[in-house]
Amino acid sequence: MGREEWSSTLGFILASIGSAVGIGNIWRFPYIVGANGGGAFLVPYLVSVLLFGLPLMMLEFAIGRSTGMSVVSAFQSLRQRFSAAGLAIVVIVSLILSYYLVITSWVLAYALFFALNRPVDFGAFTGSYLPLIFFLLSGLAVFLTVRSGVREGIEKIARYLIPALVVILLFLVAFSLTEPGALEGVRFYLSPDYSKLADPAVWTAAFGQAFFSLSVGMGVMLTYGSYLKRGDLFRSASIIVVADMLIAILAGLMIFPLVFTAGVDPAAGVNLAFVTLPSVFVEMQFGMVLGALFFLMLFAAALTSAVSMLEVPVATLMDSYGYQRKRATLLVFAAVMLLGFPSALSYTALKLEIFGTPFLDLSDYAFGTIGLIVAGLILSIVGGWYMDRTRIYTEIGGCGWQQRVYMVLIRYCVPIILLITLLGSLFQVTG
Ligand code: PFF
Repeated sequence: MGREEWSSTLGFILASIGSAVGIGNIWRFPYIVGANGGGAFLVPYLVSVLLFGLPLMMLEFAIGRSTGMSVVSAFQSLRQRFSAAGLAIVVIVSLILSYYLVITSWVLAYALFFALNRPVDFGAFTGSYLPLIFFLLSGLAVFLTVRSGVREGIEKIARYLIPALVVILLFLVAFSLTEPGALEGVRFYLSPDYSKLADPAVWTAAFGQAFFSLSVGMGVMLTYGSYLKRGDLFRSASIIVVADMLIAILAGLMIFPLVFTAGVDPAAGVNLAFVTLPSVFVEMQFGMVLGALFFLMLFAAALTSAVSMLEVPVATLMDSYGYQRKRATLLVFAAVMLLGFPSALSYTALKLEIFGTPFLDLSDYAFGTIGLIVAGLILSIVGGWYMDRTRIYTEIGGCGWQQRVYMVLIRYCVPIILLITLLGSLFQVTG
């Protein structure tokens, strides 16, 4: 059987937007903006996305399309000895998925609670064993999608869920902007505090957020690119990047006005989605409907991202070890559920913690922050330095000077920035 393919460029773009747009946009971006200088944060964020995120995404598409293989076999085809590096990326993305699914399952639970008009307290919910059931349900949804294949599974859900997500988001933004006091929230969100730009931590936060949000450096875009035959990579990547950014910015425009209208603490950080916002919805007129819509939208975003992560190890088993898709998906699904179990248990009554930190938070730091950067470093170095230049040029197109600028970005700027972000993230914990 030949390699699976997207049904069209649009299908590929929608699936990639599905991967990029996730919990990182709707929940993480707004609170990172709030904590890092409001509107001023958009400057380092735009720089990171356009100068580093976009080129790395194009590199992944280029490797994937030109080799027609997923991470491990693609790396192997560049140099035999790089297969271990490819495998490291596959392991990291599987580990990220294992805890990402836990948060996805909370989102699913909240969507259901609001739809049933029965919101619950976060502590009471996570303290019960209910989250384990939702963990299994979310895992199953991801499993069934990937099992159905590239066109019938991954592309199909993106075709329905991404437009639905945009419609719900626009509706929620319009609603929250007409609330009394909305302007104050917008002011808090976007009024720039440029003095923050002198703080290197703000810049490393921007780089980290950009890579996480765009799903780059993880082999996801490489794998998606391997199902692509034709099309302008720069154009596709630009559309994906802009859509990802717009959705993140719009999410902030819906969240901050609501938070300000209710007069609750806007800098609630990680608690924003599961404690602050639900408490706002509960007090509001039509709050149950709005809450259900918000969490449904977040679930759609998380599901399409989780699907993209699962596809990486599945494609690896298929390409490198000759597995059939159905068997590969089952195997990876079982492994990811096992890996995620400690994270799923970390907020329950069992309180799985290491040195007082919940296992989930540790996973987020070890895999979602440090692991992500390490994987990005491997990818940019292997792709940028060991893939033949002319092969890259053929894939990305453009004229002479554009290609030269691109190579400087990929070979020098991206690895250096990732290294700085890595040091910054390590320092943050020990410092
Ligand atoms: N981009 C996703 C988000 O913003 O939530 C998260 C993500 C997906 C990270 C896929 C890494 C990845 F490989």
